[in-house]
Amino acid sequence: MSAASLLDLKSLSAQDVERLFSAARTLSGESPSGRGDFERKRGLTAALVFFEPSTRTRLSFETACHREGFGPLVLDANSGSSLEKGETYEDTVLNIAAMMPSVMVVRCGDDVDLAGLSKRVPCPILNAGWGRRGHPTQALLDAYTIHARRGGLRGQKVLIIGDVRHSRVAASHFELAGIMGYEVALCAPPEFLPESATVPVFHELRAGLEWATVAMTLRVQLERHSGKADLEAYHRDFGLRPESLKALPKDGLIMHPGPINHGVEMVVEVMRDPRNVILEQVRSGVLIRQALLRSLWERKA
Ligand code: CP
Repeated sequence: MSAASLLDLKSLSAQDVERLFSAARTLSGESPSGRGDFERKRGLTAALVFFEPSTRTRLSFETACHREGFGPLVLDANSGSSLEKGETYEDTVLNIAAMMPSVMVVRCGDDVDLAGLSKRVPCPILNAGWGRRGHPTQALLDAYTIHARRGGLRGQKVLIIGDVRHSRVAASHFELAGIMGYEVALCAPPEFLPESATVPVFHELRAGLEWATVAMTLRVQLERHSGKADLEAYHRDFGLRPESLKALPKDGLIMHPGPINHGVEMVVEVMRDPRNVILEQVRSGVLIRQALLRSLWERKA
């Protein structure tokens, strides 16, 4: 992988992804204290710039920073930044970049020109969720979790259920599936599907789950809907429940990027299904983000 920004996955090869997974596997066997204390003297810093809310991505990047010896500089748009005084996103990124962090991790909406900004700052930018365009580290951690459980990705059939139209996670899986050779299909009501789907679509949950080896359900992103979604109807037809999950193979996997709307995408009992690997996804998130940061450090060393 080059020391360039990671805005999408299109520029990665299967070998790049395998190398990242291999580094994450090695990290999973290391002490959680990582190399942070040893490496911190190098003065590496990571600016974590979050213009939209986040729990998993922000805190897993922060954990990864501590373990890999990057001092984290966290900007939370909702508390105490000069965005509240009207500063623009663009000025915010450029001013933080002027402090010369080793890397910037940015979560933002579609209204931010992250690609343009990445050409104007002197450090790599890692996309931590960019509008509907993509969430590359989420797709990588999902795929790493599947790889770890199933021993590989080729031949895996990932059914993406729900609000695909507004999903950056789905957008990144469309890219990664092509690189790593797993199949993707969609299962959603018409109003949640993209205008033109390039992968198979199941209109009934049961048929989709019978096809799948992985059931990946997505959060209904009410904040990105223009109209009012009928959540009761959605849950009735596409919600994961113990009875609907009988159609998923016994060795299938149940995934969700989080945060979950309980009673919408799934009922709480699904958290106790032995096929549920949702918290394993979160653990993978730290490893994948550590592996990414370590690859940056190794290039600087
Ligand atoms: N999956 C994910 O991006 O979660 P957060 O919004 O909590 O970071």
